[in-house]
Amino acid sequence: MAYTIKVNGKAHTADVEADTPLLWVLRDTLGMVGTKFGCGAGLCGACTVHLDGVAVRSCQTQISRVGTKAVTTIEGMAETTLGATVQKAWIDHDVMQCGYCQAGQIMSATSLLSKTPKPSDEQIESAMTGNICRCACYTRIRTAIRQAAGIDTPLGAAPAPQQVLASAAASTPAKG
Ligand code: FES
Ligand code: FES
Repeated sequence: MAYTIKVNGKAHTADVEADTPLLWVLRDTLGMVGTKFGCGAGLCGACTVHLDGVAVRSCQTQISRVGTKAVTTIEGMAETTLGATVQKAWIDHDVMQCGYCQAGQIMSATSLLSKTPKPSDEQIESAMTGNICRCACYTRIRTAIRQAAGIDTPLGAAPAPQQVLASAAASTPAKG
C-alpha cells in the first residue's frame, strides 16, 4: 500500500507493507541514512526521530501509524534554529567518538530542549537515558546540552562581565 508521509517539510510516498518500521522507509525507500539502526527493539535510541516534535524510536513506529504527523530526521534538524544551536554545541565540545549513536542523541536532545529550554540535570538525565552510546560520550553529551540551553557559557566565548568581576574579586589579596 502507498503511504504519503511528510518528512522534513516535504511529502514522500512509500509503497510498503503497513507494518514496515518508519526506520526502514526512511533509510531504504527514501535514502535518508542519517537515522541509524542499532538494536531494532526500541532499546538503544540510535533510530530516534521526531513525530510532531516528540522523540520516538523509528524502529518501533509502523509506517501506517505515522499519518499526518510531521516527521523530522537528523537531515532536517540543522535547518532549525534549535537544531543549529545544538549542532554547534556538539562541535564545540567535540562530542562524537565513532558517531554512530549521535543522530539519535541529537534528536532526543532537541526534543527535550524544544519543550524544556532550561532543563535541570535530572531532566537531561531522564530525557537522554534511553540513548545508548557504546563510546561512553555521556559527559560530553550532557555538557553540550547545557551549553545549547544557555546554562553554561559556550566554549571560547568571552565570560560575562559579572563573571569577570567575581573572578577579579576572588583573586584580589585582602588588605593588611
Ligand atoms: S534501533 Fe531503534 S531503539 Fe535501537
Ligand atoms: S559516539 Fe560511538 S556510539 Fe556514541
